[in-house]
Amino acid sequence: MGLRFIFMLTRNDQTVEDAETHLKTALAAGVHHIGFKDVGLPFERLKQLNRAIKTGGATSYLEVVSLDKESEVASARAAVDIGVDILLGGTHVEAVLPILAGTGIQYFPFPGTIVGHPSVLAGSIDAVVESAIALAARDGVHGLDLLAYRSKENVTGLMAAVCAAVDKPVIMAGSIGSKERIENVRRSGAAGFTIGTAALDGDYPADSPELETQLRSIQRDVAGVNQHLSPHAPKNLSQSFDAFSEVWSPRVAGQVNDMMVKLVKLEGEFVWHHHTHEDELFLVHRGRMMMKFRDRDEIVNAGEFIIVPHGVEHCPVALDGVCEVLLFEPASTVNTGNADDPRRVVTLKTV
Ligand code: NI
Repeated sequence: MGLRFIFMLTRNDQTVEDAETHLKTALAAGVHHIGFKDVGLPFERLKQLNRAIKTGGATSYLEVVSLDKESEVASARAAVDIGVDILLGGTHVEAVLPILAGTGIQYFPFPGTIVGHPSVLAGSIDAVVESAIALAARDGVHGLDLLAYRSKENVTGLMAAVCAAVDKPVIMAGSIGSKERIENVRRSGAAGFTIGTAALDGDYPADSPELETQLRSIQRDVAGVNQHLSPHAPKNLSQSFDAFSEVWSPRVAGQVNDMMVKLVKLEGEFVWHHHTHEDELFLVHRGRMMMKFRDRDEIVNAGEFIIVPHGVEHCPVALDGVCEVLLFEPASTVNTGNADDPRRVVTLKTV
């Protein structure tokens, strides 16, 4: 299991006013764990927000902020009414467990003593560990929500001690806003972590403060920490073709080992040529292409492809105006092959 990134639609421990807009951005960026708090928005909006998270295919989290028992019980009831998947936080386990019983909601309370708002974790490492062990031993507690970076103790030591002491997943919450902290969280043995304010304020180290860039940067760092390959976003062919207009000038859209994915627009007839070593695949996206060979012509319609083996003379011709073609061929392939033609392109732009 990799480290889980939970995006909180919260700033300074409150659900943000424009949570719905940020949710759309997060879902589009492929974030699959999304949380909010029970303060900041009216109940009905939290309910709608939760529905939108679930409809978007993500797991929903509600983090309890309230410190007194009465408010915490109200929050737990709200979690049930809202229908969240996971309830994070809170300290009045005795009062909350009966409310969650039979609901299927997973419960990750705070170990240790929580004070103030925004919340701070008070007490020594030993005291927090002792509390963590007692909580984790209970049925109905599925994991812990540790406000590690809100402690004045040695945070790395605290995280490692809690994770080592319990055999249930530990989520690190609060004040995580850099790759270094994510790496520390990972090393401690935690199951996941939350980020809210840092991403919403554009403070996470990234190319821009925009939320989408922030989230993608966090995801890339998490993928690196998890030693997964970096996640690549899908590419839309129509949009990629719409991004350029030159004909007979292939653009690089991607690389697969030594093979390149190129996009090219054809218009009219090209030049007869062959490639000594490289095979070429032509996949027609929009339009129609005729591939002329010395012994015959082949019509290639949208959605069809044709492979031209190396050494075989060929001459592509666009029928019906401009034809959009995806090429899949070795990186060394030059469009004009052995022919001397002004449309030869050696250095390709990307798209
Ligand atoms: Ni060719």
